[in-house]
Amino acid sequence: MKKIIVAGNWKMNKTYLEAKQFIAQMNQKSSFGTEVILGVPALYSDTLYANNQKENVHIALQNCSDQSEGAFTGEISARMIASLAVKYCIVGHSERRTIYGETDDLVNAKVKQLLDSNVRPIFCLGETLSERELDQTFSIVERQLTLGLQDLSNEDVSNIVIAYEPVWAIGTGITASKEQAEEVHAFTANYLKEKYGSPLASTIPILYGGSCNEKNALELFSQPNIWGGLIGGASLQFEVFENIIDIAEKLNNGR
Ligand code: PGA
Repeated sequence: MKKIIVAGNWKMNKTYLEAKQFIAQMNQKSSFGTEVILGVPALYSDTLYANNQKENVHIALQNCSDQSEGAFTGEISARMIASLAVKYCIVGHSERRTIYGETDDLVNAKVKQLLDSNVRPIFCLGETLSERELDQTFSIVERQLTLGLQDLSNEDVSNIVIAYEPVWAIGTGITASKEQAEEVHAFTANYLKEKYGSPLASTIPILYGGSCNEKNALELFSQPNIWGGLIGGASLQFEVFENIIDIAEKLNNGR
């Protein structure tokens, strides 16, 4: 049975004070059971982790190094992330792939680093607009899955969260329709099933990201293969993000 997860991706937004205020507001929220993950700026992660009082709210980083340690100025290793007791890290986000030129192989190396340190990767994939227009959506997603998850054990794969984020929907206000999103989620679920078997595949969450907000969350999260959202813009304002958590909470409680 899927449980909806609500993940935020703050990207390079919020000052230290704003970030702490958000966590303080979250601490005030009456109790809920939905799992919430917040991808915060690395610089604040320790303070936010310490300030967070909600057991089911998890702090995540947004990126990590493909190397384990050493002379890599400016990089943050998976081991460092694990040493803060941070349990999740976004990896392979399309902004990293397109702006910083991250390849599937580099993303795979980062996924492995995270798994070796017991940090759960939130592994992002998705096609660009031109790839969709050329009818390449499924082949791109399949390539990203195959290369991004190469040489992982079944146990490794069982610790991954996948986020399907069509690049044309990220930050554009254009959301994939529930049919467009569900189609790729079903394809991904099927890929995982064929490769790793049904029992394992049925436990891997596949989140949707790309202009997901309080208006479309209900219809998206209600799709059979959509396990929640990885939310950028709509995760920045507490009240908006809270509304999305409340939608997920209702679905998780069967209402
Ligand atoms: P968006 O970003 O919700 O602002 O489209 C999603 C993401 O990039 O993770």
